[in-house]
Amino acid sequence: MKPKKTILAGICGGVAAYKALDVVSGLAKQGHNVRVIMTEAARHFVEPAAFAAASGAPVLTTLWQEGDGEDKYPHLYPSTRADLCIVLPATANSLAKIAHGIGDDLLSTACLSLPASCEKVFCPAMNVEMWRNPAVQDNVRILESRGWLRLGPEDGHLACGMTGPGRLREPADILNNLAPLLRDTKPLSGKTVLILSGPTREYLDPVRYIGNASSGRMGKALAEEALRRGAAVRFVSGPVSSENLPGGVDLKRVTSAEEMLSAAREALPGSDAVIFAAAVADYRASSYSPEKRAKSEAGLRIDLSPNPDIAATLCRDRAHPFKAVGFALQSHDGETCARKKLEAKHIDAIILNAPDSMGSESGTFSCLINGQEEFTSWGRIPKHDAAKKILNLLV
Ligand SMILES: Cc1cc2nc3c(=O)[nH]c(=O)nc-3n(C[C@H](O)[C@H](O)[C@H](O)COP(=O)(O)O)c2cc1C
Repeated sequence: MKPKKTILAGICGGVAAYKALDVVSGLAKQGHNVRVIMTEAARHFVEPAAFAAASGAPVLTTLWQEGDGEDKYPHLYPSTRADLCIVLPATANSLAKIAHGIGDDLLSTACLSLPASCEKVFCPAMNVEMWRNPAVQDNVRILESRGWLRLGPEDGHLACGMTGPGRLREPADILNNLAPLLRDTKPLSGKTVLILSGPTREYLDPVRYIGNASSGRMGKALAEEALRRGAAVRFVSGPVSSENLPGGVDLKRVTSAEEMLSAAREALPGSDAVIFAAAVADYRASSYSPEKRAKSEAGLRIDLSPNPDIAATLCRDRAHPFKAVGFALQSHDGETCARKKLEAKHIDAIILNAPDSMGSESGTFSCLINGQEEFTSWGRIPKHDAAKKILNLLV
């Protein structure tokens, strides 16, 4: 049978490691190419031979492996080719390492080399006090904000004798949750999504600029979600920190609104959908001073000129059909203003969000689709969940 997907299963040192055997053998029986990495602690709970039998392949346990060619780089192969990575039982220790980019053993280093298109899943299991520890909770949030899907833990009786959240989800339940991630044809296969992300900067002089607090996290979450659904992604980003630039996309970096418009124009032909997630400055200085403007007790008056409206410009006369999703960030009269923008910009849906989402991992969102009467409120949710909902609209 031709292997369907390449799956990396990372097994950590928790009591529930034996339950991971059923997940690994279930995936192997479905015809997937499953490679197992066991941490040193995991080997105190289950012998590698058991996972070798369950997966039908040798188990990887060390960074320092003898061998030729790719075998010398177990931190890169198979991880860089993985379609799905599942870490189970995910210990507090391994979660912390993955969340913070530490690569001091084979599993944590392999997680650093997973491609952006890889589905990433973790199934935590630990003592209830460990699970409630704020450090663990922070690490879980970091992983979720980066697109890792969390399955569990479940409430119940724990091996340590305590009761509460901490049990590994049942293997059959984990396999059911993985099934949609392993489907052959992804809903956006063959489609191209153009995403505009981050703030713009409008320089007044070589030093100062008009900008805003957009971090680019929303755009990154959208790109990762589009990649996960099989789309090719063209990504135009304003100035953001490198951690808010997605991997695996056709990336163009710009500074000002005018540059963003021209990059978006270039990337538009052949795009099936455009998501206008950038926080574009509405104004720029009417005249740019090549010299730093001097400080003056009399104050400083700067004339501003309106920037082009990128969404309106690109959507007004569509040379080819594409779907367009815009964003509106409003401090007041949100729904009225967002509805006006939807109509004025000729876009297909608008996502209204509150200023609390600027620069944050989450936000308060609602959505209006062209032709519908009412906004649908999504409440305060992580940006990754908002990205999933937006991609669901496009699909
Ligand atoms: C008997 C025993 C059971 C353990 N069970 C768990 C567990 O379920 N979850 C967890 O996070 N840590 C558990 N630990 C602690 C981890 O094994 C320890 O933090 C280890 O360093 C994890 O390494 P790893 O993340 O590289 O697998 C357990 C330790 C012992 C001695």
